[in-house]
Amino acid sequence: MNLRQSASTRTVPAPAKLNLLLDVLGRQDDGYHELETLMVPLRFWDSLSFTPTRSVAAGQLGKISLEIAYSQHWPDATNRLANIPTGPENLVIRALERLREHAGCSLGAHVRLVKRIPAAAGLGGGSSDAAAALHLGNYGWHLGLSRAQLSAIAAEIGSDVPFFLSSGAAICRGRGERIEPIPSTPPLNVVIVKPNDGLATADVYRAWDNRNAAVGRTVSADRGPPRVNELVSALRHGDLATIGRMMFNDLQSAAASLSPAIARIQAAFARFDFVGHQLTGSGTAYFGICRHAHHARRLASTIRTLQLGLVYTARTCR
Ligand code: C5P
Repeated sequence: MNLRQSASTRTVPAPAKLNLLLDVLGRQDDGYHELETLMVPLRFWDSLSFTPTRSVAAGQLGKISLEIAYSQHWPDATNRLANIPTGPENLVIRALERLREHAGCSLGAHVRLVKRIPAAAGLGGGSSDAAAALHLGNYGWHLGLSRAQLSAIAAEIGSDVPFFLSSGAAICRGRGERIEPIPSTPPLNVVIVKPNDGLATADVYRAWDNRNAAVGRTVSADRGPPRVNELVSALRHGDLATIGRMMFNDLQSAAASLSPAIARIQAAFARFDFVGHQLTGSGTAYFGICRHAHHARRLASTIRTLQLGLVYTARTCR
């Protein structure tokens, strides 16, 4: 991860992600769902700055404070799910408190978070912020925890957090916390639309359960044959046609049953020559893969005229 330094303050980017594949393999006894998902990080990020502070008195824990600034493109003024808390329910604070507890540290910190990644979108913004906070806390508080120790804390904070501790594309299994990195994947150019409304992940999994229970199944009715190996091979070779055929998101129908905007965006994307298109994670953001950067800019400017939501162009990271 790229560390920038000024005095004792360090700043890192916290990138968004897209799910090129999200297969729900079934429901676990603990209520979570077993997944096989292929995620890629994006060159589109929040920024997190961390300044360590001393504890006020011996034996007392230093305060961990969080200040959030919204980029001028922040989309969610009218979305109730986008009111990002600055208190202990924020994943950044939870991650730092858990890290400090694990390491027996009493120092405090001031964190400044600049939000660009829309919330309740399936783009992993909150999870990525938490992973960046773990990196920064480990570094800024001189804790020296290993990657494995950080990953264990990350998995307690959220299913997607361990993915953001590693770098580059990866297959994530289990709840999402078992990471198999995919080295050196060529970048993909994408167009992303974030409609005004958002979805909570737990609601989408509940809708997935209800849809599949209704047809008497504990695995998805939508699921086709396993395709992760073919997708990885296509990704490594930049084989766009195969990537387009292998993309899949098992949560899409469930999410679309909760948010009518998703079907509208899907129908609009189907009219254009995307390589492939689908929902990311539990939504509501929807993306299409393009042939090259110029293709992405051209499609984005046409799609902007349709007023489906905020439209971004981005590239995936290596
Ligand atoms: O792990 P995270 O806190 O991000 O998950 C949010 C919610 O999404 C969980 O409380 C659970 O309801 C659902 N979830 C799930 N199976 C997963 C990941 C998340 O059911 N693999």
